Amino acid sequence: MPVLGFGTLIPDAATTISATRDALEAGFRHFDCAERYRNEHEVGQALHAGLAAARIAREDIFVTTKLWNSNHRPERVEPAFEASLDRLGLDYLDLYLIHTPFAFQPGDDQDPRDQNGNILYDRGVTLLDTWRALESLVDRGKCRAIGLSDISLHELLPIHESARIKPAVVQVEAHPYLPETELLEFCQQKDIVFLAFAPLGHGIKPGPLEDPIISSIAARVGKTPAQVLLAWAVQRRTAVLTTPRTAARAQENFDISALPDDAFDEINRIQTRQRFNQVVKTGSPGFIPQGK
Ligand SMILES: NC(=O)c1ccc[n+]([C@@H]2O[C@H](COP(=O)([O-])OP(=O)(O)OC[C@H]3O[C@@H](n4cnc5c(N)ncnc54)[C@H](OP(=O)(O)O)[C@@H]3O)[C@@H](O)[C@H]2O)c1
Repeated sequence: MPVLGFGTLIPDAATTISATRDALEAGFRHFDCAERYRNEHEVGQALHAGLAAARIAREDIFVTTKLWNSNHRPERVEPAFEASLDRLGLDYLDLYLIHTPFAFQPGDDQDPRDQNGNILYDRGVTLLDTWRALESLVDRGKCRAIGLSDISLHELLPIHESARIKPAVVQVEAHPYLPETELLEFCQQKDIVFLAFAPLGHGIKPGPLEDPIISSIAARVGKTPAQVLLAWAVQRRTAVLTTPRTAARAQENFDISALPDDAFDEINRIQTRQRFNQVVKTGSPGFIPQGK
């Protein structure tokens, strides 16, 4: 998996297409999608056009998508997977993730709620049931690897223990304000790729992008704060997702280089702790960027 990935959590269809094309042109070869983002069709369209124009083979890119919470019932997994493949216009996936460990009421409503606005959970399926259905997709050659997202170490342990096919990737929020060190150490011991999302704290300010330590390192090394945060993530041996929406940002975010050791250590010593995405608490999307 290329360590630097382009995330497709972009609400606007036209921007999804242009940003995906710009990311491919800037050099990104790893694309992170989800049925929940409701734009797999646009991502697929942009990828096909971009691959053809640049004569890049399908095998030279890495594509992930995710199973949404309302499809956790084992009998819903393969149809959901096939629908994602169809929207993306692909015949296999490099990675399929369970988007969150929360099962919602099964059905086509991605956000099922009762009259009081409370999420309707599905107590009739376990995460292990869903995991077994993902294992079958690998058995049938439909996807090359499977993993989990928005999961704590506490929830990951029993799945890892019982899995016939071990999780290849764990995707969670991580940045200097939420280093997830314990989970990272477990992943490194078990050869699981730790894939960080929101490396720039979702771009929310104040946040890591405006942190004085990050800004002073950026000035010192002649890089932007975003480049420093992405470089830090790679240097601590995680893979990382970022969502540049313009060609200039795609080039900026792809152009990262190793930080001097003292700068790396200084970032590791940041004490601020903040989570920007609350999806881990309920399974309900905690952060949807605003359309532009
Ligand atoms: N598994 C999950 O539950 C989950 C949750 C969230 C995200 N994800 C995945 O992770 C990907 C990355 O997450 P994210 O987009 O929140 O990460 P992020 O990179 O932390 O935040 C993206 C935001 O940062 C801003 N930005 C991007 N490049 C910048 C730069 N060079 N300088 C200054 N600001 C910059 C963008 O601002 P503008 O608004 O100006 O474009 C954008 O709003 C998503 O696309 C998605 O694929 C997964």
